[in-house]
Amino acid sequence: MEQRIIAIVFCFLLLQFSPTHSNTVCIIGSGIGGASVAHFLRQYSAAYHPSPSPIAQINMFERKGVVGGRMATVTIAGETFEAGASILHPKNYHAVNYTKYLDLQLKKPKSSDDSLSLGLWDGHKFVYKTFNSKSKLPIVQRLVSLANSIMMFLRYGFSLFRMSSFVEVAVNNFLRYYEGFNSRPVFESVEEMLKWAGLYDLTTQTLGEELVKAGLSPLLIQELVTVITRINYGQSVNISGFAGAVSLAGSGGGLWSIEGGNWQMAAGLINRSDVLLHLHEEIESVSYLGDVYVLNSTQGKSYNCGVTVVATPLDELNIDFNPRISIPPRKLQHTHATFVRGLLNPAYFGLNSLSDIPDLVGTKESHDVPCSSISILKKHENDMTYKVFSRETMTDALLDNVFSTRKETIKINWAAYPHYHAPEKFAPFILDNQHLYYVNAFENAASTMETSAVAAENIARLILSRLSQGVGLSSLDLKRVGRDPSELHTEL
Ligand SMILES: Cc1cc2nc3c(=O)[nH]c(=O)nc-3n(C[C@H](O)[C@H](O)[C@H](O)COP(=O)(O)OP(=O)(O)OC[C@H]3O[C@@H](n4cnc5c(N)ncnc54)[C@H](O)[C@@H]3O)c2cc1C
Ligand SMILES: *[C@@H]1O[C@H](CO)[C@@H](O)[C@H](O)[C@H]1NC(C)=O
Ligand SMILES: *[C@@H]1O[C@H](CO)[C@@H](O)[C@H](O)[C@H]1NC(C)=O
Ligand SMILES: *[C@@H]1O[C@H](CO)[C@@H](O)[C@H](O)[C@H]1NC(C)=O
Ligand SMILES: *[C@@H]1O[C@H](CO)[C@@H](O)[C@H](O)[C@H]1NC(C)=O
Repeated sequence: MEQRIIAIVFCFLLLQFSPTHSNTVCIIGSGIGGASVAHFLRQYSAAYHPSPSPIAQINMFERKGVVGGRMATVTIAGETFEAGASILHPKNYHAVNYTKYLDLQLKKPKSSDDSLSLGLWDGHKFVYKTFNSKSKLPIVQRLVSLANSIMMFLRYGFSLFRMSSFVEVAVNNFLRYYEGFNSRPVFESVEEMLKWAGLYDLTTQTLGEELVKAGLSPLLIQELVTVITRINYGQSVNISGFAGAVSLAGSGGGLWSIEGGNWQMAAGLINRSDVLLHLHEEIESVSYLGDVYVLNSTQGKSYNCGVTVVATPLDELNIDFNPRISIPPRKLQHTHATFVRGLLNPAYFGLNSLSDIPDLVGTKESHDVPCSSISILKKHENDMTYKVFSRETMTDALLDNVFSTRKETIKINWAAYPHYHAPEKFAPFILDNQHLYYVNAFENAASTMETSAVAAENIARLILSRLSQGVGLSSLDLKRVGRDPSELHTEL
């Protein structure tokens, strides 16, 4: 009896402390996607699997010296701002939960302030400008806000309400991804995942087409909607309807971010998920040797992994996959983010004084416009900090025209998000029918911090459910995955 207990304990310890490669998970990328996969793997294996956990070690590889990926900060003139992903929606429930779980502080970004004025620049003139309430009196602010609403209504009419309901329907459908395991299956493909929530059709037509179908006026589509898609995705209304709906949702009220930087979500999740983090280590090759993946890194090291998760877009990388994998070709949209401490030049805009320039300069689709948007990040006593988004780099000559003074300028060229099309094509979540997973396949639907987290949560469930079925160890039996919710519930 005693011997048996010792043997059981010994086996248990063996399983716990000598991880074989089959229960080692390797994650490439430490952005919100990779960090969320690690988090949900730990959370779900603790909650749904009797020990020992099916996952022993989690290795995470990050080519840079910091975690967070496209969530990063920039420091200009001694102050820190979001350089990449900046805003979260009030219904980004994973981000909301991360914030609570990690004890992070919420922040309302200045750019979501209703009292800020918006101007629409066509390269020659402001097509219109909303009023700016400089008054601190709430009554004045409310009147100004009312005047702006009336102005918008006179210009765009009932189309404004049709636009809101278009966004609301998409946001409500998206909320299905937060349903419990009883009603929400594990998805094997992006298409299946989108179809289940009623969002797939939105990826088959352009935003422009979808909005015409919804009865929006051409003026609203060419102006306000275009301003928003240019700010959020650096692209026109030719992006897919779904990417467009996500983009429009990111222009509403109640937006927020994390005090000190959104990257802390990734840092906190990684810290609390018992992850072996390898910074400054880029994965160059992933080779499947029948029962194990061998990952080779720029440090000249090799790692054996039972499961490999790609949590970064593969489009501009040359990771050498053996055997080769095949994904639909996809171009990334580069967004040049230029941060300037200084002052805009009113003459560039044909204006007399600085105060005539709106707080947020949105732009139309036109060859005459060199940038997608200019926003004020902070008003200082004598100058401002601005953020300029553009599709091409802002040359110094151009900046010298747009700005009258520049104390400091920082330029970042982001491989920002997919260049969206309609109909959209999706890479598989499971790249090789074994245990090579691709979180960022979902980015071709829409790219946000929250959509990365939602895709990552599904990937974590997919890994656990396939491991518990012995997929890859024996024969493949994909038919059982994601079809019968009650069965999955007991498995996870
Ligand atoms: C300018 C800009 C503005 C944005 N604004 C918003 C916004 O307001 N709200 C919002 O929700 N989203 C926004 N986004 C989108 C958002 O940033 C992304 O959707 C999200 O951060 C993607 O996270 P990820 O983890 O999937 O990828 P990433 O954050 O890109 O993480 C991938 C990581 O993998 C690493 N890596 C790559 N290759 C290797 C390798 N071979 N080996 C090791 N490591 C590797 C990279 O260095 C990177 O750290 C914005 C993006 C940009 C660029
Ligand atoms: C957020 O956390 C709460 C409380 O733990 C939980 O009930 C809810 O399901 C979580 N939401 C998501 C999206 O995970
Ligand atoms: C959008 O697509 C249409 C049809 O392909 C094309 O004519 C138009 O130029 C595109 N617009 C932009 C801004 O790319
Ligand atoms: C990591 O998490 C622990 C709590 O689990 C916390 O005390 C510590 O400060 C965190 N470290 C970092 C670098 O966030
Ligand atoms: C990975 O590294 C191992 C050990 O150095 C080597 O044998 C193998 O050929 C490498 N694989 C690839 C694809 O480079």
